[in-house]
Amino acid sequence: MPPEEAVEIVAQVAEALDHAHRQGIIHRDIKPNNILLTRDGRPLLADFGLVKSIQDDRRLTANGVLLGTPDYVAPEQAQGAKVDGRADIYALGVVLFEVLTGQHPYANETPISVIIKHISEPMPRPSEVNSAISPTLDKIVAKATAKDPAERYQRAGDMARDLRAVLASGATARPSVPTSVTAELPSVEFPPFIAGPPIIHPRQFFGRERELKRLFNLWKRIPLQNAAIIGPRRSGKTSLLLYLKSITTTPPSHLRVGQRTDWLPEPERYRWVLVDFQDARMSNREELLGYLLGNLNLSPAGPGPAPCDLDHFMDVVSRGLHTPTIILLDEIGVALERCPELDTAFWESLRSLATNYVGGNLGFVLAAHESPGLLAHHSNVGSPFFNIFGYTATLGPLTEREARELIASSPIPFPPADVDWILSHSGRWPMLLQILCRERLIALEEGETDDVWREDGLRQMAPFRDLLA
Ligand SMILES: Nc1ncnc2c1ncn2[C@@H]1O[C@H](COP(=O)(O)OP(=O)(O)OP(=O)(O)O)[C@@H](O)[C@H]1O
Ligand SMILES: [Mg+2]
Repeated sequence: MPPEEAVEIVAQVAEALDHAHRQGIIHRDIKPNNILLTRDGRPLLADFGLVKSIQDDRRLTANGVLLGTPDYVAPEQAQGAKVDGRADIYALGVVLFEVLTGQHPYANETPISVIIKHISEPMPRPSEVNSAISPTLDKIVAKATAKDPAERYQRAGDMARDLRAVLASGATARPSVPTSVTAELPSVEFPPFIAGPPIIHPRQFFGRERELKRLFNLWKRIPLQNAAIIGPRRSGKTSLLLYLKSITTTPPSHLRVGQRTDWLPEPERYRWVLVDFQDARMSNREELLGYLLGNLNLSPAGPGPAPCDLDHFMDVVSRGLHTPTIILLDEIGVALERCPELDTAFWESLRSLATNYVGGNLGFVLAAHESPGLLAHHSNVGSPFFNIFGYTATLGPLTEREARELIASSPIPFPPADVDWILSHSGRWPMLLQILCRERLIALEEGETDDVWREDGLRQMAPFRDLLA
């Protein structure tokens, strides 16, 4: 990547940070892996919400200690002091150093010594590593990475402004830069091993190939058919719904090599709407129907919920829905148990809409802990609706090949004996694989040579052991 491009990307990230800081949001985990590039080269900061939830999860699970890479940690953050947006500016300064020189300022050090250096050793100048880097860029890195937050850029916007000035004046480099030494920002990389929240990005989703084949087969042709996804707590139901919704239209550059996207003919014609019944608003019938209309682009006011009643909903959808549409209903058990407004009349209307009025263009997928038949039986509502689910995918462990692929996604490869240990102790359940892999990876990153990570992993797994029963 030419230095201009690298500087441009860092400037855009600085602008995004400035915006977030003004909203009172601190990222706390700026690093190249959290900077995603869109196909047209725009950087996206990996979802703040995601980052936070990963940290929360780690905080919950890692003996009260927040572990992660220390490579970009600001001195005050490393010392456990209260941090503000200036810690993000520091981290971005380190990223800038790295994209300019192709190496980390404190390369080849153990994690502990990297932390000590962040706290006490002066940041080298990028031009010491790559003599082609201009003094102006040296200064920007120095200012962003000052040890004392008071000496840093106080606002990410100021850093962005200086970077833009460099770009405008063409002063990224002394004459004749050997551009090959500049580091590539990873085009799309994600934090490895997510245990807890559903998998949001398709790139982080593994396995379920058999289920995917069967599910997409229901939707290749009109009439679309209905499917149920059944599995125990934490088996990956929500992750699968999210994957179904996005995989066919995700550009291959955002995916792992070999991840299949060609499941449907003309995937861009399909519309997908996800309803999560754990969202309390969905228990209100009019709000739910308004939400559906908005997401189907059928509400007169355009996308966005406007409450609507059942008659109106039926009317608008049966007249307006002409392209294949799949409504994904997550946590349907909650809807049946806790949402009295979603009564038999409601479910019957949905059924009649799908079967009689929209030319086969509407399909439903539901996710639940028990089968549609049992759901209807236990709840005494909507049994005709639940009769239309002709295919049920029951989520179990991943196959061995899929589980190995998940394990092999580690940025640091695991020794074969550890891979086998993880395979057998996780029972190949994705959640348990993620937990054990995360513990293994942290131990490797921290340079631990013992097997304590195994005990840690088993302890973290304990609350979810019923998966193994
Ligand atoms: N296909 C997958 N690839 C990788 N990891 C997965 C996959 N499916 C599930 N996981 C892991 O399992 C965890 C739980 O997944 P998810 O939230 O989708 O399960 P769920 O069945 O919806 O759980 P709940 O019953 O609590 O709603 C995720 O945090 C992730 O670690
Ligand atoms: Mg779920």
